Amino acid sequence: AQQVAVKRPQLHFTAKKNWINDPNGLFFDGKQYHLYFQYNPNGVGHGYMSWGHAVSTDLVNWEELPVAILHGDVADIFSGSIVVDRENTTGFGDGTVAPVIAIYTAAAKDDTNQSQAIAYSLDGGTTFTKYEQNPVLDRGSKNFRDPKVFRYESEQGSYWVMVAVEAIERRVLIYRSENLKDWTELSSFGPQAAIAGIWECPDLFQLPVSGTDQLKWVLIVSLNPGGIAGGSGTQYFIGEFDGTTFTPDEVQEGWDSLEYESLKQGRWLDWGRDFYAGVSFHSLPVGQQTIIAWMSNWDYARELPEDGWRGSMGTARRLDLVKNLDGKFEIRHRILGLPAAAVAQTAVPAGESRIELGSPALLELTVDAEATDPAVLSLFRADGTLISELTVEAGLIQHRREAGKVDHELYASNQRMPLPAGSSGLDVKVLVDHGSIEILAANGLRSLTDQLTGESAPAYATLRVAAGANVSVKVQAFSDNALKL
Ligand code: FRU
Repeated sequence: AQQVAVKRPQLHFTAKKNWINDPNGLFFDGKQYHLYFQYNPNGVGHGYMSWGHAVSTDLVNWEELPVAILHGDVADIFSGSIVVDRENTTGFGDGTVAPVIAIYTAAAKDDTNQSQAIAYSLDGGTTFTKYEQNPVLDRGSKNFRDPKVFRYESEQGSYWVMVAVEAIERRVLIYRSENLKDWTELSSFGPQAAIAGIWECPDLFQLPVSGTDQLKWVLIVSLNPGGIAGGSGTQYFIGEFDGTTFTPDEVQEGWDSLEYESLKQGRWLDWGRDFYAGVSFHSLPVGQQTIIAWMSNWDYARELPEDGWRGSMGTARRLDLVKNLDGKFEIRHRILGLPAAAVAQTAVPAGESRIELGSPALLELTVDAEATDPAVLSLFRADGTLISELTVEAGLIQHRREAGKVDHELYASNQRMPLPAGSSGLDVKVLVDHGSIEILAANGLRSLTDQLTGESAPAYATLRVAAGANVSVKVQAFSDNALKL
């Protein structure tokens, strides 16, 4: 057991008590965002997996509700998704409200089978009834899981599409259904790109290309281990989906490597240690695609300090695509839902200045490209220990090995995040909360999410800039009181 203070984050979802992991069944009902999550009703370890439930109107302040889907005697309720069945294709509706359907993995407790099952809610997603004829999709596999379902609309008609993984085979399977009960296999994708770990929690959706009216399809695949920062990580593929097959713009070989240099060839949704199993909200209009990830890593999630609760979600991210000069597309992040806060604009003279942060806080900084000397941003713990260092040339170097307070071999690691080729100047947002740091650089084209347990969160930053550089620095302080409404 580790003697580290566990302070509750203010800008991130945590359960009142017990263990959580992946976000599940994210959907927007027109008024509220619903977040379900892998939840152990009985303790702070992974087990008795069920779906916990919380709702929010702003994606930051969450109200936790009773467990929505409880594990059974023979099967756990693993990750999955929710759709609102507006046309009552399932027949579960009673003619007054659209049924809310959860599609999840029934994971046999004796590890002999994983198949897809459904449950329906007629009260807007609060209570669910498991379908009597579950499972609805069984391949006789032990590692077939994490169904993410969406409505595919085309001129030839609309139908339900599911992406799910054969985890060990590093394959995403794509299925079609008219009623969420009978499923037909359409195609499969993979193994491709990073395959050193098993594939989990896929998602497939359209994103707008910034500045155009073009849309591209994006396939997200979490893998564990084999992520860019070690352990659990999230990669993505950009391409086209014709209602049957996902075809990536670039076909990549699979590489079975844990080496940073080869992993760098991949496309990573986040370059930190703690961004996993991220999936998108159902029912948001195209162009408002928003995802939430679990802010942890299977390398050490089970062993981090706890205080009756363990695990938290990352901030909600609105995603879109940016087309680079080389014609390739990249995902861009924007953090949603941060509350209005006291803002301090700091004028920064040439040379080195110190910026107080506190926690929670958001530091927004730009140093324009005209600066002749490279700018350097460094983040420090209150005792002066360096946590992060950002320069245009080296990108971000995250010193969690030195700054970490947890004596765990895998937790104590450093991370690197190069900036996009051709970057000049600095453009960065740093969100600090109790227990975590999220750094968005290059206008959101790079994201790095790390837990920083204990008192190790940054307390201040220093910025070094050349004379004549055009600098803008803004700090928003979110006080605990202001957030606890
Ligand atoms: C990903 C994952 C999923 C699975 C769930 C079990 O973190 O391993 O593949 O459904 O967690 O809790």
